[in-house]
Amino acid sequence: MENVILQTRGLTKRYGSFAALDSLDLTVQKGEVLGYLGPNGAGKTTTIRLLLGLIKPTSGGAEIFGLDAQKQKIAVHKRLAYVPGEATLWPQLTGAETLHLLAEIHGQVDAEYRNELIKRFQFEPDKKVRAYSKGNRQKINLIAAFASRADLLVLDEPTSGLDPLMEQVFRECVLEAKKNGQTVFLSSHILDEVEALCDRVAILRTGKLVEIGTLEQMRHLSAVTVSATFVHEPPSIKHLKGVSNVHITGQHITCQVVGPIDELLAVLSAAKPKTFLSREPSLEELFLSLYGAEDEHKS
Ligand SMILES: Nc1ncnc2c1ncn2[C@@H]1O[C@H](COP(=O)(O)OP(=O)(O)OP(=O)(O)O)[C@@H](O)[C@H]1O
Ligand SMILES: [Mg+2]
Repeated sequence: MENVILQTRGLTKRYGSFAALDSLDLTVQKGEVLGYLGPNGAGKTTTIRLLLGLIKPTSGGAEIFGLDAQKQKIAVHKRLAYVPGEATLWPQLTGAETLHLLAEIHGQVDAEYRNELIKRFQFEPDKKVRAYSKGNRQKINLIAAFASRADLLVLDEPTSGLDPLMEQVFRECVLEAKKNGQTVFLSSHILDEVEALCDRVAILRTGKLVEIGTLEQMRHLSAVTVSATFVHEPPSIKHLKGVSNVHITGQHITCQVVGPIDELLAVLSAAKPKTFLSREPSLEELFLSLYGAEDEHKS
């Protein structure tokens, strides 16, 4: 397909018998912002290193822009920009010199946009890199990546170290990149950020892709929280299909429901509720329920 920017097929990386990434099949479309999530050690950075051709897959492969990520990595890298979570840069250069050098490496830069980004990120380019704080070092990589206007931005926990104001600037930049038709692969632990930016979310757990979809689709995976207050004693709902975590305090009832809600609604409404509230899970709750499932498997 013409609009496919990135595709992996059975992408696998083993260290001995341990699979850091296990048969990943993933497709990212042009202009999409994909959130790549998972607990520590799930295999996110491993995936990114495979995509960048920094490590070799044990089996399977990846295509970026229709090119082989391993065999044609030079051609691939001309069209992508990568931001690691922890910037390793030349300590003796100034910020401005580093931005120049990174632009040379990228081979393309929108100088006007870069100057605008320097202002928006409140970055002081005249200091030596070794004198910058962690967050300020991180800004160098971000400014260089966004100013490259690369077709694909691969970001691995790019906002670690940024303060909330700068995190906001980062979000604007991602949305501008998207508007500009660029594609963004964003690995992050900041669920708010993912919720605000991503068209689709992929969740990795112990090297395996466990869920992928839009936030809307994902929300159905987790329970909806329902609460209601009654004039009299709340009705009995524990036996209803999909209903769990029922708590009754006086005339108030809360519970969670997975799947169709009609049966629960019928019972609640027959008991004439005074108040009723139903709430969809946040990405955070969704996450906790998916991560929690991992612990259940272990025990
Ligand atoms: N060179 C290596 N040798 C052995 N094991 C490795 C190597 N590199 C990574 N791993 C293991 O592969 C697994 C996945 O690591 P990875 O860095 O991809 O996780 P991650 O999802 O990026 O986690 P985090 O959120 O902490 O950044 C981990 O268990 C890690 O210990
Ligand atoms: Mg990582």
